Amino acid sequence: MKEIAITINGSQMRGRYGMTILEVAKGKGIDIPTLCHSPELTPIGACRICVVEVEGSRTLVGSCHTPITQGMVIHTHSPKVLEARKAIVELLLASHPDNCLVCDKANQCELRKIAADLEVGLIRFRSRKRYYPIEDISPYIVRDLSKCILCRRCVRACDEIKKAGVYAMAYRGFDSKVVVDLDEPLDKDVCRDCDVCISQCPTGALSRPYEIAKEKKGKSLVITG
Ligand code: SF4
Ligand code: SF4
Ligand code: FES
Repeated sequence: MKEIAITINGSQMRGRYGMTILEVAKGKGIDIPTLCHSPELTPIGACRICVVEVEGSRTLVGSCHTPITQGMVIHTHSPKVLEARKAIVELLLASHPDNCLVCDKANQCELRKIAADLEVGLIRFRSRKRYYPIEDISPYIVRDLSKCILCRRCVRACDEIKKAGVYAMAYRGFDSKVVVDLDEPLDKDVCRDCDVCISQCPTGALSRPYEIAKEKKGKSLVITG
């Protein structure tokens, strides 16, 4: 297999033809944050949190979907890159509910972890939230789309791994939404014993009903003596 020599953060390294910048960087222990990317799914470059600086390129490039080329010189944590990532997280948080502290996914939320790593504090952008009713009709899955960041991992996971094609994208711009059928609440038998999309979701938008029930039970537990 043809090898390609590149430089990341001043260190020379090699990758195989067809590898992305992200794959080479991760292989060398360089941590680039990702949200819409999953190694099990086709990359789509939706969230832009994985951007890096490539010398000679006018714009920052998404590392999860950009293949390496011979002699590429890459900076994964330059001031320009960190500023762009911070702005992306702030924009996502500006449309995210404010109840992160009581979210059932709290410790596993990838968005929250990235925000903490980037030391995101006060959001500079005007807050504009999307509110959707919680969908808990299904006995197998609860959707809280107010927490959805439109990464489409659930859509791809259901298509590519489960091969059930339950989800689709609908509407445009700020109204973009992951929908089921003609924007109906999710309630499908095919979801029984399946948590493929839940395990891919980087936020608290998808969860198992029993996890929420367990969490609520734990919170209401009162020790009397
Ligand atoms: S639980 Fe499984 S079948 Fe149901 S929407 Fe998610 S991935 Fe598709
Ligand atoms: S529900 Fe979760 S996995 Fe699906 S698009 Fe929203 S944040 Fe991504
Ligand atoms: S992780 Fe690369 S664009 Fe989302």
